[in-house]
Amino acid sequence: MQGYFITFEGPDGSGKSTQIQLIQQYFQEKGFDMVITREPGGTRISEKIRKIILDKTHVEMDYITEALLYAASRAQHVSQVIMPALEEGKVVICDRFVDSSLVYQGVGRGLGECVKEINDIAIRGCLPDITFLFKISPEEGKKRIRHEDRLDMENLDYHTKVYQAYLELERMNPDRIKGINADRSVEEIHREIKDYLEVLLKNLKKK
Ligand code: ADP
Ligand code: TYD
Repeated sequence: MQGYFITFEGPDGSGKSTQIQLIQQYFQEKGFDMVITREPGGTRISEKIRKIILDKTHVEMDYITEALLYAASRAQHVSQVIMPALEEGKVVICDRFVDSSLVYQGVGRGLGECVKEINDIAIRGCLPDITFLFKISPEEGKKRIRHEDRLDMENLDYHTKVYQAYLELERMNPDRIKGINADRSVEEIHREIKDYLEVLLKNLKKK
């Protein structure tokens, strides 16, 4: 693959979307061809699946159903958007990816290894080159959220388990996952991510 695949992960409300917008502006001005996308979502079909997953009235959703829906949304996203863009040499920035399923469904919902197995089918070897993990306690993240979806409504115990699982993933993947202290100002966080990416994208071809 010629492009560069960057993902942002962390608790809800940790500031991922805010930082992605700033990074998009910065690198587009520098002439990089970028695709900004998100999960669950990023294609017409995946956005429809997103609506089903996050619908507050779907209280009876089975955990396996939930995990399969995230993976189905991801399979479409990888094949329709992410892989073609990387093959064309673009920088792809994705708000959440497979790590979210490993921690939210694998650990938060307690589904374990099968989450990795179904996602291996969905992503076909397409893994991020780098992942920024936004580190902020779920309590602090929750304070920032204005509109809750079905998953934001889960109790603090669930979100704490998810956060611990993120920290464990970071320990297990030190080369790929870069922890970011997200309990700082928007500007400070932006500066750290921008400096980091400038080094990494130095050798990537521009438009
Ligand atoms: P996420 O995409 O991780 O859910 P957002 O970027 O949507 O998070 O941010 C959630 C809320 O917190 C938004 O209202 C946003 O303006 C605010 N926010 C983002 N970054 C910070 C920050 N560093 N400090 C304080 N508030 C922030
Ligand atoms: P998102 O819209 O990114 O929420 P936020 O902007 O608040 O971070 O994601 C919606 C929710 O879906 C969020 O609670 C995390 C959850 N999620 C999973 O449980 N598994 C997954 O694989 C993904 C991609 C998201």
